[in-house]
Amino acid sequence: MKLTQADFKKRRDRLAEQMGSNSVAVIATRAEMYRNRDADYKYRADSSFYYLTGFAEPEAVAVIETFAQGEAYRYTLFCRERNREMEIWNGYRAGLEGAVEQYHADQAFAIHELDQKIVPLLLNKSKLFVRLGQTKKFDAEVGGWLHKAKAMQRQGGDAPQQIIQIDSIIDEMRLKKSAQEIELMQIASNISAEAHTRAMQTVKPDMMEYALEAELNYIFGKNGCVPAYNSIVGGGENACILHYVENNKPLKDGDLVLIDAACEYECYASDITRTFPVNGKFSPEQKALYNIVLDAQLAAIDATRIGNNYKYPHEVAVKILTQGLVDLGLLQGDVDELIESEAFRQFFMHGTGHWLGMDVHDVGSYKIDEDWRAYEAGMVVTVEPGLYVAPDDETVDAKWRGIGIRIEDDIVVTENGPLVLTKNVVKTVEEIEQLMAS
Ligand code: GLY
Ligand code: MN
Ligand code: MN
Repeated sequence: MKLTQADFKKRRDRLAEQMGSNSVAVIATRAEMYRNRDADYKYRADSSFYYLTGFAEPEAVAVIETFAQGEAYRYTLFCRERNREMEIWNGYRAGLEGAVEQYHADQAFAIHELDQKIVPLLLNKSKLFVRLGQTKKFDAEVGGWLHKAKAMQRQGGDAPQQIIQIDSIIDEMRLKKSAQEIELMQIASNISAEAHTRAMQTVKPDMMEYALEAELNYIFGKNGCVPAYNSIVGGGENACILHYVENNKPLKDGDLVLIDAACEYECYASDITRTFPVNGKFSPEQKALYNIVLDAQLAAIDATRIGNNYKYPHEVAVKILTQGLVDLGLLQGDVDELIESEAFRQFFMHGTGHWLGMDVHDVGSYKIDEDWRAYEAGMVVTVEPGLYVAPDDETVDAKWRGIGIRIEDDIVVTENGPLVLTKNVVKTVEEIEQLMAS
């Protein structure tokens, strides 16, 4: 399943409608990123730019103009011109013709003419929607265009009077996913679930963390996907480093391994974490902590419902985790007081979830004015509680030290309650042990 140009057009229609009359929106894609001598990182378009255009080439800027009268708007795409020699070296370009014919721009100009050609598009508009504060280079370019437009005052031109962050419109559009977007995220989730299943089936003591990462990458790659973020494959105490990405240590018999890895499909991300025993069997301590995290996760998923506020699943998870830590003797005291004083943060120091979409940490405000916003149908959020006992934590019995656990799934808020996109990968102790024994 892929989106069509008709789908991207509908998004531009909605943006234009919200901009109001006599306005202009300018959105640029991301720059290519240098890795080291003559080698770039594989290119990935800016998510909001791609959301509106479906155009995946670098060096492109989209402009949408509304007019004083009528509902029609004009969509201009600045992009790279076709160039036989450059295309022999670096690959196909749609060019100006392709921008119009394949990508349905009303007109297209060469990107190297941006500075000259964009100024007339901004002249005498009342509002300019743009994304400032992303890169200094683009901020300076916008400043230059405004300066040029203002200099035209004696010829009857002027710069837009109001500058508005375009993200205020696009982020809100992206936050609530359409049925098609959910379908794409379901595909990404299914592939990622398959990758985690394969990891559970192939892990063995003494395997290197990167070798296990390669098993995940094989499934992503053979499905035409790339990782949505740097994979975390942390054995034993490495699981207690929240953003561990070195993945270069051997996996030890008797340890758990935490894998936080998932792919993106057609620029839509998934985000899965599973934690399982390297040798296929949980120890009593691992199992005890694991089941607390699982209980917290299941309850938090169930709390991800229309009308509940964004923080509510976190509060539900914190309560269960804190109670569990007290029951096992890792924390002492009254559960409510331990929550109030945030004593649980010794073992659970991150949030329980984030918006998920084209970006793994997706756009969309978490608060409206002062208050955490309420869940609405079509929002997608992760639920990912964890417990991490530092290897040098002298406040707890030695048997708990160095155990790190997180369980993460992707949830769509629906009229019928939480829909778990990532359900294809097992997560109870029994299911995991059974899969790993087979
Ligand atoms: N994988 C990034 C996160 O879980 O937030
Ligand atoms: Mn996450
Ligand atoms: Mn994750």
